[in-house]
Amino acid sequence: MAEYEQIDLDVVVIGAGGAGLRAAIEAKQRGLRTAIVCKSLLGKAHTVMAEGGAAAAMGNVWSEDNWKVHFRDTIRGGKMLGNWRMAQLHAQESPDRIHELEAWGALFDRTKDGRIHQRDFGGHRYARLAHVGDRTGLELIRTLQQRAVALDIDVFMETKILRLLKNPSGEVSGAVGYHRPTGKMVVFTAKAFVLATGGIGRSWKYSTNSWESTGDGHALALWAGADIIDMECMQFHPTGMVWPLSVRGLLVTEGVRGDGGILRNSEGQRFMFNYIPEVFAAETADNEAEADRWYEDHINNRRPPELLPRDEVARSINAEVKAGRGGPHGGVYLDIASRRSSEFIQRQLPSMYHQFKELAGVDITKEAMEVGPTCHYIMGGIRVEPDTAASTIPGLFAAGEVAGGLHGANRLGGNSLSDLLVFGRRAGMGASDYADSRTSGTTVDSTEIERIIDEARAPLAREGGENPYDLQRDLQETMQNLVGIIRTGTELTQALSEIDALKERVPNLSVNGGIAYNPGWNLATDLPAMLSVCTMVTMGAIERKESRGGHTRDDYPKSDPAFGKINFVQRLNGSGECVVSPEPLPEMPDELKALLEEGAH
Ligand code: FUM
Repeated sequence: MAEYEQIDLDVVVIGAGGAGLRAAIEAKQRGLRTAIVCKSLLGKAHTVMAEGGAAAAMGNVWSEDNWKVHFRDTIRGGKMLGNWRMAQLHAQESPDRIHELEAWGALFDRTKDGRIHQRDFGGHRYARLAHVGDRTGLELIRTLQQRAVALDIDVFMETKILRLLKNPSGEVSGAVGYHRPTGKMVVFTAKAFVLATGGIGRSWKYSTNSWESTGDGHALALWAGADIIDMECMQFHPTGMVWPLSVRGLLVTEGVRGDGGILRNSEGQRFMFNYIPEVFAAETADNEAEADRWYEDHINNRRPPELLPRDEVARSINAEVKAGRGGPHGGVYLDIASRRSSEFIQRQLPSMYHQFKELAGVDITKEAMEVGPTCHYIMGGIRVEPDTAASTIPGLFAAGEVAGGLHGANRLGGNSLSDLLVFGRRAGMGASDYADSRTSGTTVDSTEIERIIDEARAPLAREGGENPYDLQRDLQETMQNLVGIIRTGTELTQALSEIDALKERVPNLSVNGGIAYNPGWNLATDLPAMLSVCTMVTMGAIERKESRGGHTRDDYPKSDPAFGKINFVQRLNGSGECVVSPEPLPEMPDELKALLEEGAH
């Protein structure tokens, strides 16, 4: 019989990025016995990779800004696929969440008159990103972590969750996992669970995501019977490092462009002027000098083309490189050196300055950076009820990147940090209310727990099988080559059969060494989730026969209005297979539609 420790609580939050921390703070403040369970060390989360700022219509730099404009930007930026209620709550509540964070100790950069400074980012009509230089995510995590510690929230660090468990009436009631440093198994039982596990980017070869982002939460929810939406909508951030190879994919913050950086190809041409979609043309300069003047003065809030939404900038860079106008390492040039003083760059973008100096030997105050698109963020995720963050199965809530809906087909930069504050809090509220009113027990099935533990430990007992790192490498190659920034039906179908073949190799995985701190074994337990989420992304991408936001089909290069009205929903059928079906988007109320049609002011 497998041994495990059992820990009973009211609310368990899985994940300790911004959404998880904010959810746990809310539940604890409401008097619930709350714990955070996280795969890594507290303070280390993909949240830190949202460097440039948190979007909130506070109107500190542009008094014209308000929630209605932010709502419109978010829905338009998401190419009309976003959930209207989530976008409304997000736009309305973000300013309060930023002020709350400040009250808890976050040290935002200031305007000359002492208010929180707000930076420009792509797709936002007004400069609205509250920021701390280019280390905003880090400051956000630091502040929330400090608050969580002050509230004495229990944190189970370096603990990987393998599966969620339900009680006999079908409510989520438990989670089984193991402690990485010891390999000891643990079962958490609770009245409500919040998934805040972040994204899935580790399944691509070039990604801003670090080792934790293996899609655990997306897979745990799917396996437990929840609905997952729009997994085909992946974001490739336009600017990642392309060289040296060891750090290829590492984020180069949009803050560089927000603070005046421009993109040039190998011929020195500021090529983004050639890619301005018609809808933006009227708002954008038709020559560089004029655009610069607009940019400097912000006359009529017209925008430089480098600040188009991310999907468009990423595709443009991709097209330039494909046309043979890329740099020596397959990227294009991002130049802030010729636009801003050295003092400005080092003050506003200290991390970028050090990152390029230390890793590539490039002084960004003197030279351009070579950059290219990198897998950054998944817009799709667990289907949630907007006000409570409840998933479609009882007892399970989700917030942050693991939840779908807010960002539609393309997320605006800066909207993720405010997303995780707004919906982290709402998930904490929803889970607390659910736990308070729950009358059923949290009994879980010990036979099922034993089966999960045995399956997880199997690679340790198997000899002469396959190394999990080989399987991971092959998966990353498949996703990078066939389910990347530009997709075709033929390649997606090939990807699906390659993923199926990779799944066949899982029962043959074997690892050397013991159960304590064994990264090979840890990866072996991550791979089932990675394969499940890659299947969902690919299946969704096959079904969405159009191009929209982060999902670009070379064989269907245009957006199709009919597809703009549907979410692709994935769930397990009665035989445990993942199936995908189109379902209508929730209907937007007329008063919000009017904001889009007339333009919000
Ligand atoms: O470019 C960045 O700083 C990333 C921000 C984000 O993803 O929101």
